[in-house]
Amino acid sequence: MEATESVMDDRPNRFPLTNECHHYTRRQDVDWDIQKYWAQRYSIWSLYDEGIHMTDDAWFGVTPEPIANKVAEDLRGLVPSSKSVLIDMFAGAGGNVIAFALSEQWSTIIAIEKDPSVIACAQHNAEIYGVVDQITWINDDSFSYLSNNLSSIDPTKTVVFASPPWGGPGYTSDEIFNLHTMAPYSIKQIHEACKGIYSALFLPRTSDLRQIAKLAPEGKKVEVVQYCMEGASKALVAYIPAAV
Ligand SMILES: C[S@@+](CC[C@H](N)C(=O)[O-])C[C@H]1O[C@@H](n2cnc3c(N)ncnc32)[C@H](O)[C@@H]1O
Repeated sequence: MEATESVMDDRPNRFPLTNECHHYTRRQDVDWDIQKYWAQRYSIWSLYDEGIHMTDDAWFGVTPEPIANKVAEDLRGLVPSSKSVLIDMFAGAGGNVIAFALSEQWSTIIAIEKDPSVIACAQHNAEIYGVVDQITWINDDSFSYLSNNLSSIDPTKTVVFASPPWGGPGYTSDEIFNLHTMAPYSIKQIHEACKGIYSALFLPRTSDLRQIAKLAPEGKKVEVVQYCMEGASKALVAYIPAAV
């Protein structure tokens, strides 16, 4: 394991990189369980060599750049032009939120991430992509943030993007992934948190479509898009209109 120092950054609203944040350049420094992700680093981050930092856990959940860019494009195409605020509930190391910022389609982008080391990586990575200042960074629990800020969130202007944890790499063994038992947050808990707001949920490719269909508001339909790389689906996104 490579030793990394905590790098202090005294700019306002900047979270310092910690000992958990790494930019691995040598395979021998990378833990065995993330080596397969690190081997794909340039498919995940085209600017990896510019100094992309990740925590070890973040490798399991980061959205690869080509998929993040396509989701950003699709989301903009699906939501009405009145939507100008995007909230990313689970920003992780920044895969999706950087793509949303690069799309230049949102006047306000709010990235929420509860892990201080992970949000520090996300900010650092956003700086590499030149979009760090286009994003408002919130180091908090996104459920608390949404419930505490309900009065200032205008549902006619806002979209919530959520790429929650899927419960670890084991999710791939299920033929149909049960979204009700997804850990640590079930689909119901996430859907409740963004009730009344248009949401886009980034979920396992084998997610139970009947469970997703039940989230459609009366008289409206949910769009589900599978996102593939190199011929294989990596994930789906359920685009869910707000309930009136
Ligand atoms: C699947 S990852 C997100 C990956 C991200 N879309 C990307 O491309 O880098 C999920 C992230 O949600 C964070 N998280 C989990 N529970 C959270 C909560 N209640 N509030 C905010 N962040 C949370 C985890 O720390 C993790 O970084």
